[in-house]
Amino acid sequence: ASVAAVIPAAGRGVRLGPGAPKALRALNGTPMLVHAVRAMAASRAVSLVVVVAPPDGAAEVRSLLDAHALPERTDFVVVPGGASRQESVRLGLEAVPTGHDIVLVHDAARPLVPVDTVDAVIDAVRAGAPAVVPALPLADTVKEVEPAVVPGEPEPVLATPSRARLRAVQTPQGFARATLARAHETVTEDVTDDASMVEQLGETVVVVPGHEEAFKVTRPLDLLLAEAVLARRRL
Ligand code: C5P
Repeated sequence: ASVAAVIPAAGRGVRLGPGAPKALRALNGTPMLVHAVRAMAASRAVSLVVVVAPPDGAAEVRSLLDAHALPERTDFVVVPGGASRQESVRLGLEAVPTGHDIVLVHDAARPLVPVDTVDAVIDAVRAGAPAVVPALPLADTVKEVEPAVVPGEPEPVLATPSRARLRAVQTPQGFARATLARAHETVTEDVTDDASMVEQLGETVVVVPGHEEAFKVTRPLDLLLAEAVLARRRL
């Protein structure tokens, strides 16, 4: 089955500080989005990449991708995104032509995911899982709190889930296309990852090992780390 990758890249990236939309910011001179598209195209299984651009930035993103070489075997299309990540993914999914039975959803904000992780996700979908997420064990202990009304105020702890049972989830997440489409038709509440919509359908979601380098570039420190990883790869 042929694989399409949808890359939501329509976010502003407010937590990164002022500047261009996050996906268009440079890492060692190349926009984060271009790194993310290349990371998907690096898999021989991926024949189409759908980039979901900021609503007013589709033309800019298209010319950006035209200017950066992708492998011959990979097509790409650019569509305008929506107000939420979820809506952006849905718009990207609608742009995937029939014939692509497996769909990956990958954050533009995870530009450095290694190809082996991408292929492990695809392999698990091909092996029959309707939804697959790469994830890592946590370094930190996690506490559930009663969120403060006033930011910075002390927050009461409600519970401490067992760290051994927790995983930090990354992307690309992989799906049987029909399952992801049904999830987007059915689930209307806000979610922070695509697999949780499939969980709400009652379908099985499985975890495969993620990778340290698939971290999400969210805060200024993440930019430093990403540039250090890229510099090390070029050695
Ligand atoms: O904000 P966060 O880091 O969770 O965003 C994850 C991904 O979702 C980013 O690649 C971002 O560009 C994308 N996004 C989007 N449309 C939105 C908001 C976020 O495509 N409206």
